[in-house]
Amino acid sequence: MNAAKFTVLRAPGFSYRKSGLSGPPTLCAEGIALSDLARSFGTPLYVYSATTIETRVHTFDRAFGRFPHLLCYAVKANSSLGLLRLLGRLGCGFDIVSGGELERVLRAAPRAVSRVVFSGVGKTAEEMTAALRAGVLLFNVESEAELDALAACASRLKKEARIALRVNPNVPAKTHPHISTGLRSHKFGVPIEEAPRLYAWAARQRGLQVSGVSVHIGSQITEVAPFGAAMKRVANLVRSLQRDGHVIRYVDAGGGLGIPYRSELPATFAASTARYVRTVTRPLAGLNVRLLLEPGRVLIGPAGLLLTSVIYNKRNRKKNFVIVDAAMTDLLRPALYHAYHEIVPVVRNPAAVELTADVVGPVCESGDFLGRDRSLPRLDPGDLLAVLDAGAYGSVLSSNYNSRCRAAEVLVRGQRIQLLRRRETLRDLLRHDVL
Ligand code: LLP
Repeated sequence: MNAAKFTVLRAPGFSYRKSGLSGPPTLCAEGIALSDLARSFGTPLYVYSATTIETRVHTFDRAFGRFPHLLCYAVKANSSLGLLRLLGRLGCGFDIVSGGELERVLRAAPRAVSRVVFSGVGKTAEEMTAALRAGVLLFNVESEAELDALAACASRLKKEARIALRVNPNVPAKTHPHISTGLRSHKFGVPIEEAPRLYAWAARQRGLQVSGVSVHIGSQITEVAPFGAAMKRVANLVRSLQRDGHVIRYVDAGGGLGIPYRSELPATFAASTARYVRTVTRPLAGLNVRLLLEPGRVLIGPAGLLLTSVIYNKRNRKKNFVIVDAAMTDLLRPALYHAYHEIVPVVRNPAAVELTADVVGPVCESGDFLGRDRSLPRLDPGDLLAVLDAGAYGSVLSSNYNSRCRAAEVLVRGQRIQLLRRRETLRDLLRHDVL
């Protein structure tokens, strides 16, 4: 295939294709040109590729082979009902952290509720009650106080809550400090040394059934060594708990596997997934446990992009700015973590003059940027840009700051388009205000 005619950006979802013989290469989501989507749905617009999500889930499943496992997709990464339904159909369970996320799973994939793990440091009695009534698989308990509250809640309902303690293994994860969670200084989990005492206490409570051990050391971790170190500590704990007579059926290794925001080949993804799966399963050999994983970003990050239109070009002294209609209110990651997202023109014009510019939104904050010092072709108002790898922690972190309406979201599969969320209107914006 001619590279100029068909350049894959994020396989298998996003690639440049030529329309007809003379048309310029245009970025497509599967079989649909992004320019067509912009015309039909407006911008800013989140666009997801169903085939990419499916491929990534299957790659994980293949890497596990016969090792008993369950992928509990981390709903916080993207909680759109349409995506939850798709993931539920693929056999995924879900990792939830609130009553709101539980409600989303119940709406989108009600039969998957028996594959739900409930994580989070601040579950309220109300949320525990809802999860017990719904029949979730496992509570990942993060403190002694929570264990106590859950035992009381379950007894009141005459139910048994299956529990895993989320242990804090004191393993550093090389990632942004805001999304590293496995150190003693973080609010997450219980110190691993204290776990045996808490398990012994839990085993004596009528409302609790000790079932597993869980761990999560952070997010956007691109090396496997920290996962291996954490799992070795967890495996040692499981062995000692089993010796003490506890029945440990599940080990939950959390999420956190990172993605290369600067491009990825399918072969690299399959290889890095296989390496990760080997790393987290190896320490568990002989323990007779089912491995639960809570991946979010790695399943859907590269499966989504944010489509935006240029409003103005601007030049201040020596700096160029491309002002677009998407902002930090649509994609917060660059402003919050200085995260890098590749930004590409939707229509490629090889003859265009390149310039270096900041791609910024209309919000009144200097932190409102999507990319800095990017090399881009000269663009005109109305031209389209795609911000890549925005499927995870994109739309879920959006806000109405500056009274901006949230973007619409669509899912593409081949030639089919499904609207997942309609664009907010001014009426939506004002709905909860009381005059
Ligand atoms: N499980 C637990 C207990 C978590 O706290 C998280 C993420 C995950 C699973 C999923 O992690 P993943 O596989 O997606 O890395 N807003 C940040 C990321 C925050 C992650 C919070 N916890 C970002 O945009 O990079």
